[in-house]
Amino acid sequence: MNDILLNIIEKYRKKNGNIIFLLQETQEALGYIPKQAIDLFSEELNIAPSRIYGVATFYSQFRLKPTGKNIIVACCGTACHVKGAEKIINGLRKGLELAEDEDTTPDGEFTLEEIACLGTCSFAPVVLVNSAVYGKANINALLKKIGSKRKKSA
Ligand code: FES
Repeated sequence: MNDILLNIIEKYRKKNGNIIFLLQETQEALGYIPKQAIDLFSEELNIAPSRIYGVATFYSQFRLKPTGKNIIVACCGTACHVKGAEKIINGLRKGLELAEDEDTTPDGEFTLEEIACLGTCSFAPVVLVNSAVYGKANINALLKKIGSKRKKSA
């Protein structure tokens, strides 16, 4: 991992980059932004860790924890909310056995994310499982789909 981070630092220096550049490159390479990256950027580039964390936590696109192999994105925007998004999200959390403050299953198979609007409101409630779109989503069908993904990877 250190080589990857050192390459990012080198690119940053050549491009006279900014913190967003560091974070984007890191997430693209590693899938998330580990504490080790923030510590190294801070040390090598003389940027306070609090500034890097500030940017990383301001933008929802950045992840400070590794994600699961499968990403489930549940829309909780207004149209989806009206059509039962909360029931879907709660059902997914229960079905995935997610701990209260966690969004990734302990086996690293699934991450559940919520998003304000996926732009397909007429199909509400909408859920993405990896890149597949499930419009007028039904919790039982989703849990069946997730169950089959679990079996395949077992
Ligand atoms: S509110 Fe859910 S897709 Fe727009």
